[in-house]
Amino acid sequence: MARPDPRWWDTAVVYQVYPRSFADSDGDGVGDLAGVTSRLDHLAGLGIDAIWLSPFYPSPLADGGYDIVDHRAVDPRLGTLDDVDDLIAAAHRRGIRLIVDIVPNHTSDQHPWFREALASPAGSSARDRYIFRDGRGEEPPSDWRSHFGGSAWERVGDGQWYCHLFAREQPDLDWSNPEVREHFHGVIRFWADRGVDGFRVDAAHTLAKDLTEPLRSQPRLSRALPLDGTDPLYDRDEVHSIFEGWRAVFDEYDPPRMAVAETWSPRNERSYLYARPTELGQVFDFSLLKARWGLEEFRRVIEDSLSGHRAAGLLPTWVLSNHDVPRHASRLALDPDADPDAWLLSGGTAPRIDPERGARRARAATLLMLALPGSAYLYQGEELGLPKVADLPTAVLQDPVWFRSGGTVKGRDGCRVPLPWTRTGPSLGFGTGGSWLPQPPGFGRLSVAAQEGVSGSSLTLYREALRLRRRFDAADPRIEWHDGEPGMLRLVRADGLCCVVNFASEPRPLPPGELLLASAPVEAGHLPSESAAWLLRQRSTA
Ligand code: GLC
Repeated sequence: MARPDPRWWDTAVVYQVYPRSFADSDGDGVGDLAGVTSRLDHLAGLGIDAIWLSPFYPSPLADGGYDIVDHRAVDPRLGTLDDVDDLIAAAHRRGIRLIVDIVPNHTSDQHPWFREALASPAGSSARDRYIFRDGRGEEPPSDWRSHFGGSAWERVGDGQWYCHLFAREQPDLDWSNPEVREHFHGVIRFWADRGVDGFRVDAAHTLAKDLTEPLRSQPRLSRALPLDGTDPLYDRDEVHSIFEGWRAVFDEYDPPRMAVAETWSPRNERSYLYARPTELGQVFDFSLLKARWGLEEFRRVIEDSLSGHRAAGLLPTWVLSNHDVPRHASRLALDPDADPDAWLLSGGTAPRIDPERGARRARAATLLMLALPGSAYLYQGEELGLPKVADLPTAVLQDPVWFRSGGTVKGRDGCRVPLPWTRTGPSLGFGTGGSWLPQPPGFGRLSVAAQEGVSGSSLTLYREALRLRRRFDAADPRIEWHDGEPGMLRLVRADGLCCVVNFASEPRPLPPGELLLASAPVEAGHLPSESAAWLLRQRSTA
């Protein structure tokens, strides 16, 4: 069983499983829950503390499972409720906690509530669970945009329109409706009763909307807005009352459940509000994920984040990759002068990608992230150093971004290709059959089997880093920055862990200290370019 620890998430390393792409137990080409259970020893061996399981609920897959038909059931292609129970029990036996995704902003358009809304007249209580409005003549009710491209409004047969901030198959719920609030309290209880330890809250900043007439204009998306709590769509102050309600439900349990908020806000100090003890407990910090490779930028985002979290009485929750962005082994290969933000958001093809460089930088960035105080979320396959698969044939693409951009932006499928477990075999050990997205040539060389026990492999580096991390105290936020060799970032934690990253183009001498781990071979006391190392500061017992 996992150690009792009332704030375990503060320092946890959480591994995100995107179930359709992790492991396929029945050979249908789609990963499933029994597949996850069958591979738990890999995760236990990696040394993680918890799993975040992306949606496994019944879904027509208009948005990779984030379009949900029934929040309290399992998609038959992925298993059964018994499989969930087995997975929870098997994870807990290994001391691994389990977090499940909760997607409150919208349902699938196939959800019984939405079907009922479509079959009901304008103004009916069935429509009031969603956001139905009359248009402005032939125009949609407002200029709101979908995150996946195009208008956020779709017209239905009787002429009304409904709001969808994501795909049109994902109608937004109206969170001012008490029935919606009650429904999700029930969903939380349903999974908490089964023993899940926490929840990852999808698009947490979008639930509260200003729906007073006339609807206010907001033609921009949340990421770049100067949000202050009054935007009509994003990060509104009243969203917090929703999560205070959730906290009351979390606290019905012993131990109380936690949640981690996904918010895309440029204003860190506002995102911390979601993590208050009276709300969810944790919020992703995407600043490292959004940072371009470079000493100044990395140092600045880390300093800002640490000081912001400290002021808020929190520890940061670091992320380098997830199922929505190009994997960091590809993303970090970008030249700093390219436009990483456009690439990050669009998932398009990055210019000037050098895979060796990407792999090198990714390993260094990972060592840096895992040396920082707080918690870290890993995305399945990053421990193998997987790149984004950039050249998927367009015929296999499934991301709504691809369709809503009229085939101009490939979207996020490139980071969702099923994992390679073995060097060879029909789907490289993913399952006994095929794989719902094709694995590229050479993927087997990055497989678990190819890296297992290999000194210097990415998998070995992650294992070593997670093992060593336990010797230190990630709950202690105190760090010092030490200047030294040009191009070398060097931070030292109060517990004696020192992390150096060489951003220079030549090897640089390591500072004094006992070398614990390096992302590339250290020769004659020199750390190669674009590499990182952990050292034990000599005065570590002081
Ligand atoms: C979140 C998810 C993403 C999904 C979107 C809509 O950002 O991480 O995958 O497409 O919400 O649910």
